Amino acid sequence: MRSHYCGQLNETMVDQTVTLCGWVHRRRDHGGVIFLDMRDRDGIAQVVVDPDTAEAFANADRARNEYVLRIVGRIRLRPEGTQNPNMPTGMIEVLAKDVEVLNTAATPPFQLDEHGKVGEEIRLKHRYIDLRRPEMIDKLRLRSRISHTVRAYLENQGFLDIETPILTRATPEGARDYLVPSRTHAGSFFALPQSPQLFKQLLMVSGFDRYYQIAKCFRDEDLRADRQPEFTQIDIEASFVEEDDIMAITEGMIRQLFQEVLDVELPEFPRMPYAEAMQRFGSDKPDLRIPLELVDVDDLMKDVDFKVFSGPANADDGRVAALKVKGGASLSRKEIDDYTNFVGIYGARGLAWIKVNDRASGIEGLQSPIVKFMDGVIEPLLDRVGAEDGDIIFFGADKARIVNEALGALRVRLGEDLDLYTAEWSPLWVVDFPMFEEDDNGRLQALHHPFTAPSCDVETLKQRPAEALSRAYDMVLNGTELGGGSIRIHDQTMQQAVLASLGIGEEEAREKFGFLLDALQYGAPPHGGLAFGLDRLVMLMGGARTIREVIAFPKTQSAACLMTDAPGEVSGQQLKELNIRLRQKAKTENAGD
Ligand code: AMO
Ligand code: AMP
Repeated sequence: MRSHYCGQLNETMVDQTVTLCGWVHRRRDHGGVIFLDMRDRDGIAQVVVDPDTAEAFANADRARNEYVLRIVGRIRLRPEGTQNPNMPTGMIEVLAKDVEVLNTAATPPFQLDEHGKVGEEIRLKHRYIDLRRPEMIDKLRLRSRISHTVRAYLENQGFLDIETPILTRATPEGARDYLVPSRTHAGSFFALPQSPQLFKQLLMVSGFDRYYQIAKCFRDEDLRADRQPEFTQIDIEASFVEEDDIMAITEGMIRQLFQEVLDVELPEFPRMPYAEAMQRFGSDKPDLRIPLELVDVDDLMKDVDFKVFSGPANADDGRVAALKVKGGASLSRKEIDDYTNFVGIYGARGLAWIKVNDRASGIEGLQSPIVKFMDGVIEPLLDRVGAEDGDIIFFGADKARIVNEALGALRVRLGEDLDLYTAEWSPLWVVDFPMFEEDDNGRLQALHHPFTAPSCDVETLKQRPAEALSRAYDMVLNGTELGGGSIRIHDQTMQQAVLASLGIGEEEAREKFGFLLDALQYGAPPHGGLAFGLDRLVMLMGGARTIREVIAFPKTQSAACLMTDAPGEVSGQQLKELNIRLRQKAKTENAGD
């Protein structure tokens, strides 16, 4: 129906006759002449309709915003003084010969150029209209380009695109499963995959050697700006590899992607052990663009007359850390109070601080609610953090986990608030993760997933599981975990030992992962891999604030789709077929209690 997209027209095409199909972005009636800004996915072109062409004029006259039109016309230069150099098509216009109304449109629930004033809810409810906005089109175009570039890279490296099932058994990645009841097996359920993890390992046992898939994953977990219940992974696995092989392949992929798509040459990817990341940045996904570091001061605080500090300084699981902000002495009392509330979200019970106004004047030159308790340790403290006049030093004292989370988050927040960024892109690898972490009940949980190989042998693992490190690696970019992976266990005895450390007995292991344990017996090669979050990658590359902006039809924070009204109730007949009786009517609060 069309010869060109609106956005493709330019001044080299003057006098050509073109046919455009698209939407009326804006219509202006200039006393006798009608201007239509016609929009399609490629951009906007100005169409002029003259009363001389009577039928075209009549159709243009009844067109309203978002009507769908087909326009035949001749390209001409815009008259001097009416050109718009800010628009790709701003030098030309199309003089219409023919205007056909292909469809009318009701008044849209919001004007496309006024989306900023309407809530996200209304935009999500009418997502198909929201997606007409050029920014949204750009983001989905970028997403398509990224997928394409990734596929081309992996295909070139000999990876095969193989699909794995959506209706399957639980794959533990640490979230709740989405379950699907089976009609043909009364009382039984499929789980939607949290990732293709086990299937990609089985493909390695089959000998496919190099696998990839752009795969949908499903996780019923608390949602945040960078989490959706349904999201997409670039999932990768290879055989006869070690950490360096997978890291080289995937780093090469990201590097090439940034080059081709953004024309950005990424810097070196340093490798940082998990323990160092936690100590220096309080996070296993440090944003290295921000030049602030946590500094341990436990040894100085052991004997101070301030229990808030001396308690954690003397406790095995405690930490007292300082965070110096250059020039931060100018922060107001209110700003400090705001930061104190902010760290409270992470469980911190306060945020002590020292402003260094004039170091040469000793205690007199400091301003702080806590210096009175710091007899004898002030000078070594200021030396250790390298404090200079004009700085502020914040303190966290508590269980190490709380101090890390609170000061780690404060560090990121200060970086943003005070615009401390030293680089545009800061990638790194985090390595040497612990195998396990303790949950609140003192039970060990896998830090990655239970198929990750430990760096030690079976005996050492059994004796001191809490100390074991894993062969896992995460790629982090600007404080976001882009992807994670590991060398896997390919030995059945080791797999059982790891499951046992997690408190999964032999019987339960057989019931849940019997197929994997069996497969490991039939010649499983050494193998490993990694999965990137595609949505997060597109979010970062496209400068979006949430992954919802780079997903065509995302879910809300409460994991619902406002447009289709999913999840929804089902008929009694359907439930009966599925052998399901509801304990509570749908949509009440606390359903599932
Ligand atoms: P992991 O659980 O670390 O590893 O997931 C890999 C990457 O997927 C992205 N991601 C998400 N993105 C959006 N919403 C979510 N809810 C979400 N959860 C995870 C992140 C993360 O880095 N099977 C392993 C990978 C492997 O070992 O090969 C896995 O799924 O960017
Ligand atoms: P207080 O003596 O409780 O008034 O606390 C003195 C200062 O220490 C205040 O600035 C508090 O915000 C701060 N503070 C209290 N508890 C902690 C903590 N656990 N970590 C860091 N600072 C704290």
